[in-house]
This record gives sequence, C-alpha cells and structure tokens, in this order.
Amino acid sequence: MTSFDPYILRKEFPYFAHESAVWLDNAANTQKPQAVLDRVLLSLARASTVHRAVYALAEEATLVYEEARSILARFISAPSKDEVIFTNGTTGAINLFARSLYLSGKRAGRQGFRIVTSVLEHHSNYLPWRMLADEPGVEIIIIGHDGLGIDMEALAKALSAPCDLVALSLCSNVSGAWLDSQQAAKLARAAGAVLFLDAAQAVLHRAICLDDSVALPAGGIRVAADALAFSGHKMYGPDGTGALWVRGDLLQDLVPVTFGGEMVRSVDDSAIDLQPPPRRFEAGTPNCSAILGFAEAARWLLQSPRDEFRAHEEGLGRMLHDELSALPGARLYSVPGPLISFTLDGWHTHDLALFLDREGLCLRAGRLCAEPFMRALGVPALVRASLAAYTTREDCMRLVRALTLAKAAIPGRACLARFARDSASMH
Ligand code: ALA
Repeated sequence: MTSFDPYILRKEFPYFAHESAVWLDNAANTQKPQAVLDRVLLSLARASTVHRAVYALAEEATLVYEEARSILARFISAPSKDEVIFTNGTTGAINLFARSLYLSGKRAGRQGFRIVTSVLEHHSNYLPWRMLADEPGVEIIIIGHDGLGIDMEALAKALSAPCDLVALSLCSNVSGAWLDSQQAAKLARAAGAVLFLDAAQAVLHRAICLDDSVALPAGGIRVAADALAFSGHKMYGPDGTGALWVRGDLLQDLVPVTFGGEMVRSVDDSAIDLQPPPRRFEAGTPNCSAILGFAEAARWLLQSPRDEFRAHEEGLGRMLHDELSALPGARLYSVPGPLISFTLDGWHTHDLALFLDREGLCLRAGRLCAEPFMRALGVPALVRASLAAYTTREDCMRLVRALTLAKAAIPGRACLARFARDSASMH
C-alpha cells in the first residue's frame, strides 16, 4: 500500500457524493470525474459540427476534436495522432478492424486468411474473428489456456506456420491475467502476422506505451502491437466511446467498411476519392461531446499519479484476493490483482449478486461476455469484483463481510430456480 488516499480522489467523482452503493464493477464501467462530465456538458451546450462547416464555431469544434485525437495518441504513446480512429467502443473498433483487414487482403489478391486467437477472449475479440471464419478461405485457430492465462507454448506452436493475424487481449476480463505482449509480438512477427491487442481491460490499470523511443510513463508498461483497441467508459470516460490505433503503414492499406458523410474528398458516378486515414474510417457526424469527454478522461489520467493508482489497486486487489481465498467455500478464478472472479459454494452466481446488491454492493455476475473461457475453466458463471483507483479498503472489507454473511445463509431452491430459468440473464 502507498500513502495514496482514495478518499481525496473520490471528491472529484460526483457518484460518491450522491450514491451509497459500493461500486465494484469497474471492469464493466467506471464512474466519471467532474472534469469529464463538465467537458461533455460544455460540448453539448455549444453544439456544432466537425470537419464540415466554415463558420467560426465549427472551425473551433474541428480544432478541439483533432486536439482530442492528439490527447488519445499521447495517452498510448502512439507515434502519430493520425493513427487513432474514434469508434463507439472496443467492440466497434474490433469489428471495424476485422472486416477492414480481411477486405483489404482480399482486394490485394491474398489467398486465404489465417487467424490465431485464444479461448480467453471476451466476445468482442472473439465473435468478429469467428464470424470472419465463415468466409471462404479463412481459417481460425483458437489457442487454449494455461491456468488463468494464455498457453504461450500453444501460441508458439500455432505461429510456427505462416499466419495473417493474431488477436489477443492484453488483460483478461475474467482472470485479470496479462499477456506478455513482447513475446506475442516476437512470435507473430516470425509468422508474418499482424498482432492486434484488445486493451479494454488494460488501460484503467496501466499507462500503455506503444513507442519504445519515448520514456516509460510512471506506472506504465511497454506494449508491442500493430493495432490496439480500448474503450472510454472503462477508463473514467463516457459510454459509447473508444479508439482503434493502427500502425501507420498498415493503416494506409486498410479499406473502410462504413460509408457516409465527410469520409470522401470527392465522389461522382464513376469514382470515389477517400479522405486520408483516420477520417476515411469516421463516416457520419461523430459523437463529439462524448469523444471530448473521452479525451478529457485521458488527459485526467495523464495528469494523475498513475504509479500510485497502480500500487493502490494492486495492493487492495491482493488483499481482497487473500481475504476471499481464506473464506470457506469461495473459489477464485483470477490472478492476484485488481480483478477478482469467484464463486461461493451453494450459491448460484446471480443469487449471490442479488444478495450482494441488497448488502449495497454492485458486482457483475454471469458469463462476463466470455463464454468460451468459462467453458474452458469448467465453470458456468462467476461473480466478479473489479477495482479502480477510487476503491477503498472499506469497500473491499464490506464485500468480505457480505460474503461471510452469505456463507451463513445459503438460499433455498426457489431462489436458485428463479435465475436458473433465465439463461439470457447469465451474460
Ligand atoms: N464489458 C465486459 C465486462 O464487463 C466485457 O467484462
């Protein structure tokens, strides 16, 4: 633990002034600091448009929008702001990248497309690749797990043959295990593959540094990749925001998959002249207010003591991990750290999440949008506590106390049946 005080940090987050529920679902969504809310409101209160009008308000909006792109590029130490595409989240980013990469290869006359991904992926980094595998000539190889992380030996074996794309998560939303991206990149490069990383769960906890030539930021991690995606809402920013970063030379070759306003320079009956990247990938009026809030969240994190955030989150996570490991009947499915996935003997996960809700705690339960990993782990569903910089020791101890109570009050069959019947709610 450090001298970092989460109670001081909480003063910047209106949630804690207005809500009493303990927020332990940060892997799904984070609370927002006032600076982010103000930025969104300011943008909405002066609505304008970007890249498509000459009046002063629109010119200013365009400048601010492009400045937001620069902040996001700085946030991940991307070599150029023009390598950053705004999306509606990690899901939108991966769908765009998957379709675009496949189509570009096809148009360039590539025969076949070999994808390597893993069983650990959440659905956003699994389904787009699985759906591509329905196309003729596309082959997909799904690497298994080794305990709570990816089986690196199986990855090396799969990449001993030529491959087009490797798509992996940098940090699992189920087990909290981190990928060794340097090793994955080495293997991908040797196979001639592009390495795509899903960083949705990573950006909250570590400062991502893609550029080896810049100094590593405090609390940062050097990440090797050719493309990477992340979401705003999982890093104190607004919902419905995200970014796709693609290495400059690769981005030049990608074709857009969404078409509309302001992504073309010129169009007539016989020819289409696209805008250069990234604008050719941002058809239609963007979600400006939310994107500015997303950039404000990045700026807020860039100005925050991220090494202290990290030490605090890790320290609390390890403490909670130890407490839950010692709780009779609790089974853990995560590595020690700020994300703890577990079951409690005798409890259906949804019943337990409801019980915890009544005790004033918000935790996600179910398959965590990662059904293949659940199956591989041999567990139908999990409850997950996920921590952020504003999480306190008291929050964690309230969870421990509530689980101790739950242990003494295993629910009856009626309660179990109520949730067992609704498998849709498991997601
Ligand atoms: N957003 C999903 C989660 O909560 C994937 O982990």
